[in-house]
Formats: sequence, structure tokens, C-alpha cells
Amino acid sequence: MPDTIQRLQIAFFLNDREIRVTVPPDRTALEVIRGELGLTGTKETCSEGDCGACTVALGELADELLVYRAVNSCILPAARLHGRHVITVEGLAVGGQLHVIQQQLLDHHAVQCGFCTPGIVMSLFCLFLQRPDPDEAAILEALEGNLCRCTGYITIRAAARAVAGRLAAAGGAWSDLVLPACAADMERRLRAFGEPLRATDSPNTDGRPLAGYHVPESLGELWRTLARAGDPARTRFIHGGTDVMVAVNIKRDFPEHLVDLSRIPELHVLVREGDVLRIGAGLTFTDLMESTLVADHLPVLARAAARVGSRQVRNRGTLGGNVANASPIADGAVALLGLDARLVLASAGGERTLPLETFYKGYKETDRQPGEIIRAVEVPLTGCIHQYLKSSKRPAVDCASVSSLCAARLEDGRVAACRLAFGGVAVYPALARQAAAFLEGRALDAETVRAAADLAAAEFQTIGDVRGSAAYRRALIRHHVIHHLESLRGNAELCGRNA
Ligand SMILES: Cc1cc2nc3c(=O)[nH]c(=O)nc-3n(C[C@H](O)[C@H](O)[C@H](O)COP(=O)(O)OP(=O)(O)OC[C@H]3O[C@@H](n4cnc5c(N)ncnc54)[C@H](O)[C@@H]3O)c2cc1C
Ligand code: FES
Ligand code: FES
Repeated sequence: MPDTIQRLQIAFFLNDREIRVTVPPDRTALEVIRGELGLTGTKETCSEGDCGACTVALGELADELLVYRAVNSCILPAARLHGRHVITVEGLAVGGQLHVIQQQLLDHHAVQCGFCTPGIVMSLFCLFLQRPDPDEAAILEALEGNLCRCTGYITIRAAARAVAGRLAAAGGAWSDLVLPACAADMERRLRAFGEPLRATDSPNTDGRPLAGYHVPESLGELWRTLARAGDPARTRFIHGGTDVMVAVNIKRDFPEHLVDLSRIPELHVLVREGDVLRIGAGLTFTDLMESTLVADHLPVLARAAARVGSRQVRNRGTLGGNVANASPIADGAVALLGLDARLVLASAGGERTLPLETFYKGYKETDRQPGEIIRAVEVPLTGCIHQYLKSSKRPAVDCASVSSLCAARLEDGRVAACRLAFGGVAVYPALARQAAAFLEGRALDAETVRAAADLAAAEFQTIGDVRGSAAYRRALIRHHVIHHLESLRGNAELCGRNA
């Protein structure tokens, strides 16, 4: 255990209150909200982002505008509350009058034990803040990360539709029905908030595993923070925390220092530079889904992002974290591999770039050096047709059994270029090189398609686990290749849901 630990002085707005708490660095937002502040409406069940019972609305400034996003507070470090506005279920009902979402859930008998309900209310709240008229698909998407074990979703969805009806009836005044009084004037208050996150060192009398939580605000400050922390083996980077905090909560896997990259502006750049899209490592999956630049130039990346976890996970999980975490089924990493992306790695010593296809060395092993961060990914804009497929047991909040991205270009009916990247088939995201080489120069007749599918299925030493036997995975690889190439024959850019 470290000899000294930090106590973080966190200042934020919680519903209609201004809060100041001093907490050790291993506290989660949920522990502060429920434990320190006694707002027990927000529930805890899984502690790993799976069930949504702990969902709260986190209000942050983005380009000076206040945006509320649904987040899982169980995997949100408390330090991330600093300078933000949190709305919990207690912040919605005013003067004993239920919020329109709560009332409709009640009226539609969409509550039984009620344990999931605060999380469902907050997810719907964030949805209706963005748009008063969501269609059925948008309602389902907002609820992907909220598990209800007893009521069932038919009544919950009916309640959501009824909320949309109430907002439509309110016309131009719909936002008055959704936005609670505690959010009034919050944008101005957050803009005026200038307090830095302060920390004091104190003796580690309670034997805590985490010594420090550091939030550098520029790359220069990051290098100085790392130099002060000393041995890089004692530090771990955290961005969205959707992998790191699960390891902390479930595996009790604590580094000595967490270095939070989320306030470094250099990691949030998204720009087209000639024939390359440069994407900062700190962009979240939601950022990718909402970006017009991505929609215009790499729509397949937005579609792959949409297959990650749930709305709450996509709101915090980043592309850089996905690549660095080196999971064999990482949706972002598989997509980027198929897109032939390059990584920009940065350290105190300077920058280097390398192809993503050379980055992975073994299971969860990468070429990233101690003290080095992924700063950005660079994706060439090649004019290829792209398609991303993910086969999983559930369409949402599930890891892929097999995922794949196919990037290909046809010229005169023949394959002029082809890349096939797969997840779930090896210890890291991998390319089906033989199948791609076989295809180049060939016309896509039925025989060629089957032969390429057989080649791809034979390229990997697939293993069996809870997400499918080795034989099932080989069948999925064949199926993905056939699906990709048949779509290519139709020259359509598609992105399938479950294959
Ligand atoms: C319920 C749930 C469902 C999920 N579903 C999916 C899914 O369907 N598909 C999927 O791909 N993933 C899924 N994930 C995993 C996770 O959300 C993603 O891997 C996400 O992209 C991680 O990003 P992050 O910013 O949260 O990473 P963090 O948790 O902050 O970090 C992850 C790792 O990357 C390192 N790191 C972070 N940023 C950098 C950087 N810029 N440079 C160097 N190292 C860095 C950290 O040190 C850590 O080792 C799920 C997670 C949860 C909790
Ligand atoms: S408690 Fe299950 S997502 Fe947080
Ligand atoms: S009402 Fe019981 S879990 Fe949803």
C-alpha cells in the first residue's frame, strides 16, 4: 500500500445543490452520490456498467453549450464530477409533482419492484432532452443499457411513447416539461466555474490501494505528471474509464496512480487533412456517431461505434481506450484495422506513427511503450466500400462472437483492393490476409466468394468459449465473408446488425 494518498477536493452541482466533498482517489461517482450525500434513488447492482441501475445525467460544457449525457455512475471516477452538473432521479420531481417521464411510467404500469426505474427514468430523460419526438428505434437505443428484470419492456416502451405524445401536445413549450428547475441557469454557472481540482496528500492510514488521481490539462502537463509519478509501471491511464473502472470494481485491480486523459484538448481533435481523417484518441463513440465529418467520410466507423455496449458506455468510452485496451473483440479496433488506420503515439520524448496492424503483439500486449499514449488515429480515405458486421448473442451490451470489417474497391468488375479485419478469431484483432490476397484481381463470381470464405475460415486458430465454439466461429467467419462479398457485388455500402 502507498504511504501517502491524495484527498481530492471535488466541487460540483448535484440537482439544485452546490456540493463540495473531500474524498480519497478511489471513490466512484456513485459512492459519492449514495454514500457521501445520501441520495439513494440511484441504485447499484452490477458495478460494471452492465445494468444501468446507477444511471445519472452528467451535464458538461461542449463548445460552451451544456449537454447532458446518460452515464453509469458506478464506473465513473468521482473526480470526473468536478465542475459538472449531475441530475439524479431526485432532481426531477419538484414539490411532490412527478416528472412527466415518472408519471407516464406509473400510468402505464411500467414499474414493479422499481429497482431499475431510476436508471430507466434518467436514460429516458437524457433522450427526451435531446429530442421530443424519438421514434421506436431511438427509444430502444436509449434503453439498451437499462436492465429491467420484472416489468418487461412492453409497458416501459409504451410509457416512453406516451411521453413523446405529451411533449408533442406541449408544442414549442416541450422543453419546459422535460428540463427540471435545477438545470435553469446551469450553463452560465458551469461557464463561470473556474476552480481547479485540488488534491492534498495525507498519510495512508486506512490502507487504500490508490495513491493518486491526476488530471493534467495539456500534453505538457501530462509529461510533467508522469515524471513526478516516477515508475510508469505504477501508473495507468484512464480516459472514459469503461474498461479501467470495471477492472477496479470487479477485479480489485488498482494501479498506484490513475492519470486521467479526459481534459487534454489535444486528444479531442477531429480533422480532415487531405486524404486522411485524423481522429483524436479521446473521441467517444457517441462523438463518432454524432460527427458530420465521420458521417461524410467514414460512415462505417459511426456504425461500428453504434455497436459498442450501450448508450451509457458509448457516452464515455473512447476510441483510444478501445485500441489501447487490446481486447480481441474491440469494435473500434477491428473497424480501424479494416480501415488500415495508423496510430499516432506520443510521449515526453516525441511522437511516432505506426500502422495499427503492427501494434498488437499478443493477448493484451501492444507495442505501446511505458509512458506513451495514443494521441490520435489516422484513417486514409481510400474510396473503398466498407461494411461492418458484428455477430453477438444480444444486439446490444454484448461482446462479439465474431466481428469484421471489409474494405474493398471494385474496378471493371474485379477486386482492385481488399482488406478483411476480424475480431473474436485470434488473441487480438487480426487480418484475413490470405483471403484478401486471393480476392485481388478476381471477379466476384459465386465460386470466388465461396473459396475466399473457406480461406478466411482456415486462416485463424479459432477457440471455443462462452461466446461460441471454435466450429461456430469458423462458420461465422465464412458467413461474414460471404455477406461482405455478396454486398460488394451489389456494390452497396451496408452495415448489418447481427449476421
Ligand atoms: C457494459 C460494457 C459494455 C461494453 N461493450 C463493449 C462493446 O460492445 N465493444 C467494445 O469494443 N467494447 C466494449 N466495452 C469496453 C469499453 O467500453 C471500450 O473498450 C472503450 O472503448 C474503452 O474506452 P475508455 O476510454 O473507457 O477506456 P479506459 O477504460 O479509460 O481505458 C482502457 C485502457 O486503455 C488505456 N488508455 C485509455 N486511453 C488511452 C490513450 N489515449 N493512450 C494510451 N492508453 C490509453 C487505459 O490505461 C486502459 O488500459 C464495454 C464496456 C462496458 C463497461
Ligand atoms: S450498477 Fe449496474 S451499471 Fe452501474
Ligand atoms: S421493475 Fe423490477 S427490475 Fe425493473
